[in-house]
Amino acid sequence: MTYSRIAGTGRYLPEKILTNFDLEKMVDTTDEWIRTRTGVERRHCVAPDQTTSDMCVEAAKLAMESAGVGPADIDMVIVGTTSPDLIFPNVGTLVQHRLGIPSCPAFSLEAACTGFIYALTTADKFIKADAAKRVLVIGAECITKLIDWDDRNTCVLFGDGAGAVILEPSDEPGIMACHLGADGQYKELLYYPFGASKDLAKAGTDEAAIRMSGKDVFKVAVHTLGDVASKTLDAAGIDKSELDWLVPHQANLRIIQATAKRLDLPMEKVIVTVQDHGNTSAASVPLALDVGVRDGRIQRGQLVLMEAFGGGFTWGSVLMRF
Ligand code: ACO
Repeated sequence: MTYSRIAGTGRYLPEKILTNFDLEKMVDTTDEWIRTRTGVERRHCVAPDQTTSDMCVEAAKLAMESAGVGPADIDMVIVGTTSPDLIFPNVGTLVQHRLGIPSCPAFSLEAACTGFIYALTTADKFIKADAAKRVLVIGAECITKLIDWDDRNTCVLFGDGAGAVILEPSDEPGIMACHLGADGQYKELLYYPFGASKDLAKAGTDEAAIRMSGKDVFKVAVHTLGDVASKTLDAAGIDKSELDWLVPHQANLRIIQATAKRLDLPMEKVIVTVQDHGNTSAASVPLALDVGVRDGRIQRGQLVLMEAFGGGFTWGSVLMRF
């Protein structure tokens, strides 16, 4: 049986860093409130003319370099994003063209903060079906362009970035189990109100910003993430005590701590980047993965559980031997 494995990782974070102290000058908040409620200390923000595909290209170059492959070796591109450059063409095709990847399937998919987990799971299925040989999988967001910078409830939470991996076939796992889910009944708790077929003209107005019921999102996220982690471990016949690393969605340190507790994992076994990146939505898991790989904590052969939860709601997790 063919498995898929991650052959290389990369990340890109925009140059501009916005600290909690900078935010204190913009809205009625404090560094202390943001740190204690969310764990965020700073976040990166794109420049006004920078786009999601710009960040994808930089992260992808590093992922290809670390996998020892070039553009000609890639035969599929999947980008998880909620903040595409354009309504179409999709970000996958923009990235494919700019990197000089030869003609191949290239698409983006939208599952909010779970976008990368959905994209990685999709790539895994293509490889297992022998329908792709080497897939560039990216999670990327310009989420700060969708925020009302006068709304302290949301503007303190988010940041921009891109994380990429190269997924390729392997005789041994690799990816051992994936679990995806969604429940559209929660739409009103976290959403962006305008789009291509709904009030497009309002997209650039003051009304256009992420709307969120933070407390409710928090409750469902904690409950769901514990559940999805167990389902993925069970599917692979792995006990939680065997895990080497949890690479969680970086939305809120308290959500991360609650998930780790349900897995009986000490925080030393959790890759935490929320303090430096904020919530980068679909970019959050691949950014954290790349941080853990490049600083030497995540080693080849170790068991890694990645999980995410986001607007929709959507959720998912991937268990792999790195
Ligand atoms: N600075 C100071 N005060 C603030 C701020 C701020 N930035 N934001 C809100 N407050 C105030 C509120 O107005 C409220 O004041 P009030 O009691 O006078 O009405 C008070 O702080 C408490 O607000 P709560 O909403 O009760 O604070 P809570 O402890 O729930 O924390 C938070 C809010 C951080 C949003 C939390 O609910 C959370 O993280 N939820 C998860 C949401 C999330 O992560 N969303 C991201 C996308 S989804 C995902 O990725 C999982």
